[in-house]
Amino acid sequence: MKGLILSGGKGTRLRPFTYTGAKQLVPVANKPVLFYAIEDLVEAGITDIGIVVGDTAEQVMGAVGDGSRFGAKITYIRQEQPLGIAHGVKISEPFLQKEPFVLFLGDNLLCDGILPLVEKFRHGGMHSLILLTQVKNPQNFGIAECYDGRVVRLVEKPREPKSDLAVVGIYLFDHHVFEAINNIQPSARGELEITETIQYLIDRGFAVKAHHLTGHWTDTGKMDDILEANRWLLETLEEKIEGTVDSHSSIYGKLILEPGAEIVNSVIRGPVAIAQGTKIVNSFIGPYTSIYYDCLIANSEVEHSIVMENCRIMDIEHRIGDSLVGRSVEVTKSPAKPKTYRLVLGDHSKVEVL
Ligand code: TTP
Repeated sequence: MKGLILSGGKGTRLRPFTYTGAKQLVPVANKPVLFYAIEDLVEAGITDIGIVVGDTAEQVMGAVGDGSRFGAKITYIRQEQPLGIAHGVKISEPFLQKEPFVLFLGDNLLCDGILPLVEKFRHGGMHSLILLTQVKNPQNFGIAECYDGRVVRLVEKPREPKSDLAVVGIYLFDHHVFEAINNIQPSARGELEITETIQYLIDRGFAVKAHHLTGHWTDTGKMDDILEANRWLLETLEEKIEGTVDSHSSIYGKLILEPGAEIVNSVIRGPVAIAQGTKIVNSFIGPYTSIYYDCLIANSEVEHSIVMENCRIMDIEHRIGDSLVGRSVEVTKSPAKPKTYRLVLGDHSKVEVL
């Protein structure tokens, strides 16, 4: 069995971050989202993995490399344009050949891994296995209607949903999926849709079965969802204090402190993850916060947020919360008069001031 991770796409819902970076490399609990997908595949015994890359190919390839540090062999597949998830699969046929495979959308995060799914697919006599999870707002998802363990219909963002079971971005297929993709047409938005591909299989009598997820799943394509994923991932991690904490600091709850990270005269209320080379000085870091590597947080308070690498947050009077702070960002207090907010913000940035 092979693995195929889709790590191209447009990422319009995650601007401005996706202007400069791959959304699959956004760190959640201080690890790029994409790495979790690779680890899930390897854990299920799948080490021959293709990664579809687009405009951010160099970044993705730079971060993942040849896969040896994950115990995997990675083949990169260039998608010249983001023409749909099924298009990403279509261009991967020379890599996948006739082998069954797991299709993993590179911005999807699963709590419980994929081992049971792979086992179910291997022994279940089916052509495709899709993952479903219960959602509160089915109007916003691709929704499946099932009968007797088989999927009978998929509807994209239904106005009047017949079920509350959303399709998760992890699928298992055998090679019949190529017949389906070669017979569908691009949708109104110009993409070869995976929903239509699966519907084709269902309509032609191929066995498409469903697996109901009970653990956490998040599609990290939007900012709120990234913070939500950060929250549940931090809950699941084990405490590990490998950096230094001085005697004037207090730690409550779970802390994951990487080697070379430093906490000085600060209060940490976990779960919190702080990556290597980051320094927290005279500050408060509140629950559900991840601070990535080589940052400096001084005389400030941050909670329920993700701060990416190489940031400086200094002397901020009010607590920063529910925030996603991009790479090499500086948030500082200005002593200069007149007393103004001085902003250097990229397109689609969002600032809410007190
Ligand atoms: P989506 O989040 O559905 O699409 P997108 O990345 O274009 O984002 P947005 O809707 O915000 O504009 O994509 C799911 C995953 O599949 C994601 O990791 C990107 C990847 N993908 C490709 O690799 N190629 C594609 O053509 C598409 C559409 C997505």
